[in-house]
Amino acid sequence: MMKIGVLISGGGTNLQSIIDTVHGKSGEIAVVISNKADAYGLTRAKNADIPAEVIVENDCADVDDFNAKMIDVLKDYDVELVVLAGFMRILTPAFIAAYPNRIVNIHPALIPSFCGEGFYGMRVHRAIFEYGVKISGPTVHFVNEEADGGPIIAQKAVPIDDCETPEAIAAKVLEEEHKLLPWVVEQICLGRVHVDGRRVTIDRV
Ligand code: GRF
Repeated sequence: MMKIGVLISGGGTNLQSIIDTVHGKSGEIAVVISNKADAYGLTRAKNADIPAEVIVENDCADVDDFNAKMIDVLKDYDVELVVLAGFMRILTPAFIAAYPNRIVNIHPALIPSFCGEGFYGMRVHRAIFEYGVKISGPTVHFVNEEADGGPIIAQKAVPIDDCETPEAIAAKVLEEEHKLLPWVVEQICLGRVHVDGRRVTIDRV
């Protein structure tokens, strides 16, 4: 069973969706790492008897040391797939090189729209609301050295013309994130995801 490491920074609802649908079935969450000691996702891990570690960047010498400490933990738990579930810190090239096409991230917009530097959390949904787009939705992608720039694995279009606030957009997109991310993680665990350059295909079953 593929060993998964999940990196979080906050509430962990995406972590919870993976706990509920993948953990102990198509894969095993071997460890949860948070860069925030007060992240509620740590409680979710504890409730599921999943080991968790807190690595605070400010306690590290620099960003390279921070990433090296995370890699050490992931290797200690024999992690094969890293999932960024609301993880709000930068990964270094060394971290990305340690897990080639084995780091996935979920972004709350349809990449290549509303992504990259500065587009995270509510900033994404406020920009989308102000622009007046009618469709948004989550993207799950492999992580490379470009912020939100790795090969796209899956996306889900969500009509948002009925959303009257950025918060309503966020809620509607988050609902779809909770379905898309665990599905992608499961497909990777089952060996159904193939990468050819920027193009990703998933076996139809
Ligand atoms: C989600 O909106 C996700 O798209 C973004 O961060 C948020 C994580 O939420 N990357 P949670 O911590 O999983 O609840």
